[in-house]
Amino acid sequence: MNYLTILLNSRHIRNKFSCGKELLDNYFWKQAKQDVKRKHSACFVLSDIEVDNIKGYYTISSSSISNDLIPNSFRRKLPKSYLSIPTILLGRLAIDVYYQSQGLGKVLLIDALKRCFDISDSVGAFAVIVDPIDYSAELFYKKYGFIKLPDSNKMFLPMKTIIELFE
Ligand SMILES: CC(C)(COP(=O)(O)OP(=O)(O)OC[C@H]1O[C@@H](n2cnc3c(N)ncnc32)[C@H](O)[C@@H]1OP(=O)(O)O)[C@@H](O)C(=O)NCCC(=O)NCCS
Repeated sequence: MNYLTILLNSRHIRNKFSCGKELLDNYFWKQAKQDVKRKHSACFVLSDIEVDNIKGYYTISSSSISNDLIPNSFRRKLPKSYLSIPTILLGRLAIDVYYQSQGLGKVLLIDALKRCFDISDSVGAFAVIVDPIDYSAELFYKKYGFIKLPDSNKMFLPMKTIIELFE
């Protein structure tokens, strides 16, 4: 499967994009390019051939979660000596309001999970973590099998599930 997104670059015009959530828009307008440059996170965009028409974006970075945050049923198979467990953070995912409800959120999520699956061959990760911006975003991720982490707003999808999706 080829990716449908490309890494954000200086030709992309970011300020026309709006997903309707201030935090995610501000990040994209003001911070994303810097984060890519400094390797703090990778930002991938879905755009038309004319690069100024950005339909959506997501960010990926390495992360970890505390062992004791993981639900018991998943923790059993993890080494007890690991205080933190390596994960991949799908920190943000957003579709421009003009393109919402046309299946692109799902497409971008699959694109992101495929990248995580590919990375997991080189860098170990127990799961993909998301940090839903609100309850509506939580419902979106829940639809695709993400599980709520106890005592946290974050959700996770085990790499095992992602591998089953792409193998
Ligand atoms: C959440 C978001 C990414 C969804 O993208 P989208 O393109 O509108 O969603 P899609 O059209 O791909 O929807 C795919 C499926 O998810 C469902 N869905 C979409 N948004 C949903 C929500 N908030 N709650 C529950 N289900 C949702 C759709 O009904 C659809 O289901 P179906 O396949 O059974 O018809 C998009 O609305 C968005 O960018 N919102 C603002 C930013 C945001 O909240 N990002 C979330 C991560 S922080």
